[in-house]
Amino acid sequence: MVPVIEVINLAFRYPDGTRALNGVSFSMPEGARVALLGPNGAGKSTLLLHLNGLNLPQQGAVKVQGREVGKKTKKWVRAGVGIVFQDPDDQIFSSTVWDDVAFGPINMGLSSYDVVQRVRNSLQAVGMLAYREKPPYRLSYGQKKRVAIAGVLAMEPKVIVLDEPMAFLDPAGKEQVERILDGLNRNGTAIIIATHDVDLAARWADRVIILKDGRVLAEGGPGLLTDKQLVESADLTCPLIARVFLELPELDVDPVPLTVAQAVSGIRRLLKIKH
Ligand SMILES: Nc1ncnc2c1ncn2[C@@H]1O[C@H](COP(=O)(O)OP(=O)(O)OP(=O)(O)O)[C@@H](O)[C@H]1O
Ligand SMILES: [Mg+2]
Repeated sequence: MVPVIEVINLAFRYPDGTRALNGVSFSMPEGARVALLGPNGAGKSTLLLHLNGLNLPQQGAVKVQGREVGKKTKKWVRAGVGIVFQDPDDQIFSSTVWDDVAFGPINMGLSSYDVVQRVRNSLQAVGMLAYREKPPYRLSYGQKKRVAIAGVLAMEPKVIVLDEPMAFLDPAGKEQVERILDGLNRNGTAIIIATHDVDLAARWADRVIILKDGRVLAEGGPGLLTDKQLVESADLTCPLIARVFLELPELDVDPVPLTVAQAVSGIRRLLKIKH
């Protein structure tokens, strides 16, 4: 099966000479949930901007559903891959919340009935429908982030790229976004998020990519995040649950749990052995 996204030996240097990506390769199967982790300045945002053609490869290639991203395919790629920027102020520019979310669907040439349906559903999904008449600049940062997410949902892209989707959201907002991502993924949307939140990556992702200094340091299942040495070499920490079990090797729970559910079943197994 053709991967939805394929990145091949991608390199990118900013005009001031900063080498932000240095030979990055990975592929994303259809319906994947990928977490991109790495310290500040690792190249996460630079990489994500390549996935929908906002940055074009200087070296190497990016393919979306087998088609190479370039000047000729840019428009097609932008319709198929939606991106939520790290900073919502880079994304939101209309004079009301409603118009901002409607911008994408209108540009796609949808009927006004469809535009209304999509905008309404997307704003409802992120809990921002009541704010539809507000000018976005009057919103809090977390509210702007939700509107930016709604703008991408309304386009119904095949792949959704989110740069730090949870930053500045309150706990309820984080849960809401996680539920939205789960729902989209169940319907077949492939999702890639850049995050510093190892606990989120551990419970949500089926694939983890650790980036450092513009290179892929490691790629694999979320179990990678229990490798203390690897994780610390990327200036991250292991997920909280894993840390407890790594501190207690005498418990010998293998594999090391990453989530509350895994920890509970690991402990239950131990209790059964004891009694
Ligand atoms: N517009 C730019 N011009 C020059 N250098 C840039 C520009 N944007 C980013 N960089 C540099 O490129 C490198 C990668 O930055 P990038 O923003 O992709 O990292 P990141 O992994 O997203 O970091 P963070 O976790 O802080 O969001 C950094 O060294 C950064 O200073
Ligand atoms: Mg970034």
